[in-house]
Amino acid sequence: MKKEISWLLKEKYNNKPDKNFDRDVERLKAGEPVDYVIGFTEFLGCKIDLSKKPLIPRPETEYWVGEAIKEVSRVFSDRKKYGFSALDIFSGSGCIGISLLKNIPSLLCDFADKDKKAVEQIKLNLKINKVRGRVIQSDIFLNIKSKYDFIFANPPYIPTTRKNKIQKSVLKFEPKEALFGGRDGLYYINKFFKEAKNHLNPGGIIFMEFDYIQKKNIEKLVKKYNYNSFEFKKDQYGKWRLVMIK
Ligand SMILES: C[S@@+](CC[C@H](N)C(=O)[O-])C[C@H]1O[C@@H](n2cnc3c(N)ncnc32)[C@H](O)[C@@H]1O
Repeated sequence: MKKEISWLLKEKYNNKPDKNFDRDVERLKAGEPVDYVIGFTEFLGCKIDLSKKPLIPRPETEYWVGEAIKEVSRVFSDRKKYGFSALDIFSGSGCIGISLLKNIPSLLCDFADKDKKAVEQIKLNLKINKVRGRVIQSDIFLNIKSKYDFIFANPPYIPTTRKNKIQKSVLKFEPKEALFGGRDGLYYINKFFKEAKNHLNPGGIIFMEFDYIQKKNIEKLVKKYNYNSFEFKKDQYGKWRLVMIK
């Protein structure tokens, strides 16, 4: 708590607490995540506003997106093509697509989320970070008409059967629709794989995050939907976290 209070003091109040500070400390004491109380977080050098309470971007996501940026930049220099397109689907705060746009200025990026509040949040974060992108309210691919060179996805993947393993503050404060993916956590992942290939340009790449306990099932689904070339990657803690499909 001490660490969080000093973080709040520094980040939100610039070490000069005003009349709202005590109220914010009460919010922390009630278990609210410090990022919501501060109101924003940092993600690969981007300021991500959290005022509409989307999922708080996680360090594991920041790690693989950092690696993905390197991969995408490599593809750019290999193919010497300009104006590659990307889709950040299940985009929440928009942290993935916004950090891509910030780091790869010639990329075009669409964002898709089912939640109206997430759509507003993404638009706000695009403005704050001075980048442009199209934001589409969509139930997975339902309203997505285009094809892309890169698709980035961090779907809700926690199995409802593991609800008791989730931190209380996460359950109380973060949006449930961003967390749970049915009994086995694969409900959205299955739907995503079924459709994603229809939205991928030839030579395109899919990056999708999952929970390390799902690796075997992810492999089964990737094969079931006839994706030929795929590679699993670990996160910074040594756990399987990402599948990259070419
Ligand atoms: C795990 S969060 C990922 C947020 C963000 N991309 C990140 O990495 O921090 C999943 C997001 O999927 C959205 N979502 C849930 N069901 C959806 C659906 N059927 N279609 C599109 N988006 C959905 C939620 O609103 C939430 O913003």
